[in-house]
Amino acid sequence: MEEAGEPHLEPAGQTGDHLWSRRSLLALTGWGAVFGGLAVALAAFVRFLFPRVLFEPPSTFKAGFPAEYRVGTVSERFKEREQVWIARNEEGFYALLAVCTHLGCTPRWQASDARFRCPCHGSGFHRDGSNFEGPAPRPLERVRISLADDGQLLVDRARRYRHELGEWGEEGAFLPYREGQG
Ligand code: FES
Repeated sequence: MEEAGEPHLEPAGQTGDHLWSRRSLLALTGWGAVFGGLAVALAAFVRFLFPRVLFEPPSTFKAGFPAEYRVGTVSERFKEREQVWIARNEEGFYALLAVCTHLGCTPRWQASDARFRCPCHGSGFHRDGSNFEGPAPRPLERVRISLADDGQLLVDRARRYRHELGEWGEEGAFLPYREGQG
């Protein structure tokens, strides 16, 4: 038993253990920092070797020959793949983007009613894309349609035409085409 006033001495072995533990901890921390730094550098190097590149699908596509579309119809042939309807009337062609102008759902073409109807909140659009019911604030957007050199319809989804901005009258928003032309 220790007497009062006597200095408290730890057993020699125990003191050494404390010292060793402290050193080990410092060494461990040091090595941890080194390996952590190496891991970060390696990750940066791998990222450099394999950069994140966005491969966007091309915005243009060929949609077949005009004769493949009957006058007075709306074709859903490219709706699934390209989100575009191709419509033909007596004067020619236009291409509509299959994206509701309310919150972006995909409307359905109802041939029997000659209208597009959005399943999300019930917006309705006429055959030409103009809105007439539901919460959609504006007509569907048109995308550029033209004739390619080989005579096929060429659609460019990147070029949009908005009716409320007076763009439906611009070249590309409508492709004049008559039966038997070219
Ligand atoms: S997203 Fe089409 S009506 Fe709301």
